[in-house]
Amino acid sequence: MPSGDEIRDGQRATWAGLSAGWEKWDSVIMDQLRPVGTAMLDRLDIAEDQQHLDIAAGTGEPGLTVAKLAPRGHVVLTDLAAEMLDIASRRANAQAITNFETKVCSADDLPFDDSTFDSVSVRFGYMFLPDVAKATAEFVRVLKPGGRLCSSVWVKPEENPWTTIAMQAIATEAVLAPPDPDGPNMFRCAAPGCVGALYEAAGLHDVAEWDVEVELVTRSPAQYWEMISEHVSLAVAALQQVDEPARERIAKAVIGKVGAYEEDGKVRIPGVARCIVGTK
Ligand SMILES: C[S@@+](CC[C@H](N)C(=O)[O-])C[C@H]1O[C@@H](n2cnc3c(N)ncnc32)[C@H](O)[C@@H]1O
Repeated sequence: MPSGDEIRDGQRATWAGLSAGWEKWDSVIMDQLRPVGTAMLDRLDIAEDQQHLDIAAGTGEPGLTVAKLAPRGHVVLTDLAAEMLDIASRRANAQAITNFETKVCSADDLPFDDSTFDSVSVRFGYMFLPDVAKATAEFVRVLKPGGRLCSSVWVKPEENPWTTIAMQAIATEAVLAPPDPDGPNMFRCAAPGCVGALYEAAGLHDVAEWDVEVELVTRSPAQYWEMISEHVSLAVAALQQVDEPARERIAKAVIGKVGAYEEDGKVRIPGVARCIVGTK
């Protein structure tokens, strides 16, 4: 089992490496994940003057949407990878959003005073944190009494063909080690109740979870493969193990399978995320 520092170093390097793919495919990724961000913010009751913290904010969502909903408020976007937050700043500038700041830090060691924020969001970040219990205690510490935490994680792979189609094809050419259940991976928090139990252990009340459907939409099967192979953490890591001919065989297999999801000139592949909310 790697140490917390080793996990953080690995994650920092991974997401620095993935950042160009996230910027290149920004509009496709953001369209896919938007229903999850919207569902999360619905439960956070964002006020005009909201003080909000977005953890593992990556390229800025859902924090930048909060900044737009709270013109007299302030949003802090945090992430381990400076390269991801640089993209968030560019996205904010493009939308003329100014009521935000970025801070590079790890979710389990936050440089903020107790009871600073009205709300905390963590969209698709929990599964990459070295110590999920310690991180949850940090989120609760920086929340004001009565403030809310809302996060989202992916449910099991079978309900997320948008990524499993690619991973199954890669597995025919590369040896994929089974993920460490306690180590960072996309599906680490997929079990129902997994994140809710962390919330309750950290003292949150009115904990609730619900599922939200997503759809990855691309112009073609080839575009689907290009974007998945450039921004999905599991796929990018697995593809590093294979040579060019194997990569071409994988691409051909994926593009063939994804054809089944093509309709009216678009490819639409479903997935399911789970949102979890709790109150301090
Ligand atoms: C899938 S991205 C999610 C980005 C964004 N929240 C979204 O939904 O579009 C996961 C992010 O978690 C960040 N991350 C990984 N480990 C972290 C840690 N220990 N502390 C803070 N952020 C971390 C990565 O750098 C990456 O930007």
